[in-house]
Amino acid sequence: MARHSDKNKQPKPPIQLKTAREMFFSTPIYFKDLPNSKELNKHLLKHIKKWKKEDEKGIIRSNALGWHSAVDMHHKEEYNPLTKELFKMQQEIYEAEGYHPNTEPICDNMWANVNYKYSSNRNHVHPGAQWSGVYYIKSPENCGHIWFTDPCGERHIDLPIMADKQQKPVHYWREVHYQPIEGRLLMFPGWLTHEVAQNMSNLKGEKGWRVSVSFNFKQRWKRGMYVARNDGHDNKGERNFDSIK
Ligand SMILES: [Fe+2]
Repeated sequence: MARHSDKNKQPKPPIQLKTAREMFFSTPIYFKDLPNSKELNKHLLKHIKKWKKEDEKGIIRSNALGWHSAVDMHHKEEYNPLTKELFKMQQEIYEAEGYHPNTEPICDNMWANVNYKYSSNRNHVHPGAQWSGVYYIKSPENCGHIWFTDPCGERHIDLPIMADKQQKPVHYWREVHYQPIEGRLLMFPGWLTHEVAQNMSNLKGEKGWRVSVSFNFKQRWKRGMYVARNDGHDNKGERNFDSIK
C-alpha cells in the first residue's frame, strides 16, 4: 500500500521498548506454490475424477457432504508427481526445523477431497501425524477457505483493548485463514485444529467443485541409522524388552 506523501502524516517510528520482550509458543505453518502446477493439476484432476467414478461412495472423515477418497493415494503411481513434491517440502521443513539428519519423513496416508456446493469439513486434528497438509487442485471463488484455531484457548479469556486503528499483533490472533490457491501446498503440525468453510461457489456442476489433496507425515529413523539418545535425567539411553536378560 502506498504511503501518504505528506511529511507530517508519515507513520511514527516503532516504540522503543525499555523492557525486553521474548515471544514463545508460536505455531509454524509452511506454504509454497508449486511450479508447473497448471499441468500437474490437469493430470491430477483427470485421475481423481476417474477414481471418484470407481468409488463414488468414498469414506467419511471430517467431510460433510463432500467426497473423501480412500487414504492410499500415496501408493498410486499416477499421483507420484505430487507425492514427490510433498516429500521435497517435508525435507525442506526438516532442514528449517533442524531435525536429526538420520531421520526421514514417511507419508502415512494421503487422500483426495471433492467438495460440492454446501460441502465443508468439520473442525478436526490429525492424530498421529507430525506434519499434515493440503494441496489445492481446483478452487473457484467462494469454494470455502481453510482456517486454523489457536490450540491455547486460555489465551483468549482476556483479550486486550487495542488503541484505535491499531491492528491486533499476531500473538493475539485466535484464528488464521488461508484462501485455497490452486497450486499451493500448505503444511502444518498435525495437532493444529482446522476446518474448511462451506463451498458457496455459484458455478454449476463440476466447475464449482473444490478439489484438494490432504496427507499426513510421520518422522522415523532412516533404516540402520538409529542413534541411541540419552535425553532427560541421565537415563543412559532407551531400552526395549528384548534387551533385558
Ligand atoms: Fe484436515
